[in-house]
Amino acid sequence: MQALFARSAALSLLLLAGPSCVLWGQSPTGSPAAGAVVTEHPLAVRSGLSVLEAGGNAADAAVATALTLSVVLPRAGNLGGGGFALWVPKEGEPRAVDFREVAPSGTDPRAYFNGEDEVVSSRSLRGPMAVGVPGTPAGLWHLYREYGSGRFSFRELAADAIRLAEEGFPVDPWLARSLNSTSLREKMNSAARAIFYPEGEGLVEGDLLVQSDLAETLQLYARRGPRAIYEGEIAEAIVKELRRTPVPAAEAGTPADGFFQIELEDLSSYEALERMATRVRFRGWEVLGMPPPSSGGLVIGQVMGILEGFPLSEERVPRERGGYAPTPRLIHWWIEAMRHAFADRAEHMGDPGPKNDKVPVGELLSDARIAAARVAIGERADLEVGPWGMELPQESDETTHLSVLDSAGNAVSLTTTLNTSFGSCILVEGAGFLLNNEMDDFAVTAGVANTYGLVGSDANVPARGKRPLSSMSPTVIRDGDGEVRVVIGAPGGPRIITAVTQVLLRLLLLEQGLVEAVAAPRLHQQWRPMSTRFEGGWDPAVIDALEERGHPVSVEPKASFASVQAIRVLKRAGEGGEVERVVEVASDPRRGGAGGIQGQSVSEPSRPK
Ligand code: DON
Repeated sequence: MQALFARSAALSLLLLAGPSCVLWGQSPTGSPAAGAVVTEHPLAVRSGLSVLEAGGNAADAAVATALTLSVVLPRAGNLGGGGFALWVPKEGEPRAVDFREVAPSGTDPRAYFNGEDEVVSSRSLRGPMAVGVPGTPAGLWHLYREYGSGRFSFRELAADAIRLAEEGFPVDPWLARSLNSTSLREKMNSAARAIFYPEGEGLVEGDLLVQSDLAETLQLYARRGPRAIYEGEIAEAIVKELRRTPVPAAEAGTPADGFFQIELEDLSSYEALERMATRVRFRGWEVLGMPPPSSGGLVIGQVMGILEGFPLSEERVPRERGGYAPTPRLIHWWIEAMRHAFADRAEHMGDPGPKNDKVPVGELLSDARIAAARVAIGERADLEVGPWGMELPQESDETTHLSVLDSAGNAVSLTTTLNTSFGSCILVEGAGFLLNNEMDDFAVTAGVANTYGLVGSDANVPARGKRPLSSMSPTVIRDGDGEVRVVIGAPGGPRIITAVTQVLLRLLLLEQGLVEAVAAPRLHQQWRPMSTRFEGGWDPAVIDALEERGHPVSVEPKASFASVQAIRVLKRAGEGGEVERVVEVASDPRRGGAGGIQGQSVSEPSRPK
């Protein structure tokens, strides 16, 4: 577990827990006293921390971190993908920045079917119709312009990323493993192979990965802003690359044959959007989440809302080492709450449209609906919730998340993705970046599952200009004084939602430590399939008790659900009665992330098993 701690007290160097921790001077302003960054690559953590140390705020640091991820974490960090960011300032309104990909103007769901009226699932994952109009270049720029401190040029924030692309960086064990242990090479186009498989062999740990074209693209972006990507040479290179990429299982792949792809006007008209963060209350905490087109804020909000009305305090058992363990009854309620919320996801959630009126957000989070779901939850599993049949999910694991807190108390929680690992595997020749396969997050037709086994309704059927429904759940928790206390998020498809919810419940209800809460074994329930999946490490007695309540379970000792990146601020009474603030960072041991606190060294990432 990668954990660091900083504490605002007038002492020095005291080991609280984890590999490294430092005590910090008391902050006179009631702010956290030390900024922190946590994400899935130590080089990206360093980029963010160095911006904080140079006087940048959380938005500046998040942008620098994300830009470095686009270089050092090619499976998920990106310019050719999209994502969401929550900006939660110390003072003022939280904002949700939506830089999700958009379906091209030629989008026609019929193009995903063959002549026999069967869905060709590879067409939304590979080939030109897999790729949505990228949102990242507009999104990071928006975050910088609207919420950055104004102390840095974009070029300064991109300097680390540009240097790492130009001079190269040593391939880490996680990247080496993905390049060499899957059928990735066959999926990649020739431009991608030239970078990741020079001379036909996958790069191995310690090799230098140099990405000169990407360095030039970043230079242009830093100099001219997002127009450098959405217009001109790079936009033309994207369209050209897609034009020469074949449509899977099709003889031809042109618009004349009923197919579509991104065109120049789709790129030039892309815009990042601002939305209102979702807000729910849970035991006195304020839970801020991402609204549609993410399902994260609504599903997490419903789950926390449903649970809030149960007698939770009676279903947690004090532990000798502090904190509480959940009873099987409490776990049963978690599972059932997730079943209800994911059924609503499938039925009602999709792109809310430009006027935010296409998803009934208010109704989905209303007290009446949440109470109705709670009342429907009895003592046994209810497998009859909702309308559709069972579909089996596939595994795929690549998105990434960064959490940033600055010393003034502003926070950014940002999740970004190419969708599956390395996205569509189409690298834009000459521009050096991979394109997403986010079109698979649509439901090609009602009831047909995507690669994550998620089904959807007409609300999420692909159409021109629409943004596909997402599970990405950047989340921030504030206390009753309005102070940011947790910044959290994760990659992991629909398991993002259940992982974030479980870590929050462990922190806010079971009062467990951050490191423990992030590392603890997880379960996953997404309505379809009906069974609840368990990582290894659960007490078999808990699983037996759930089976007795009628839960179909699938225990998967080797499974690994999501990769949570979290920062927490603890508030305690100091010796003189003043409030001390302790900043903790935890990067999930399931993957190779790292955390850092201003002024301290960056933690060592875990290695693949
Ligand atoms: O937006 C979504 O929900 C998916 N495209 C996220 C994919 C993901 O998290 C893959 N994983 N690690």
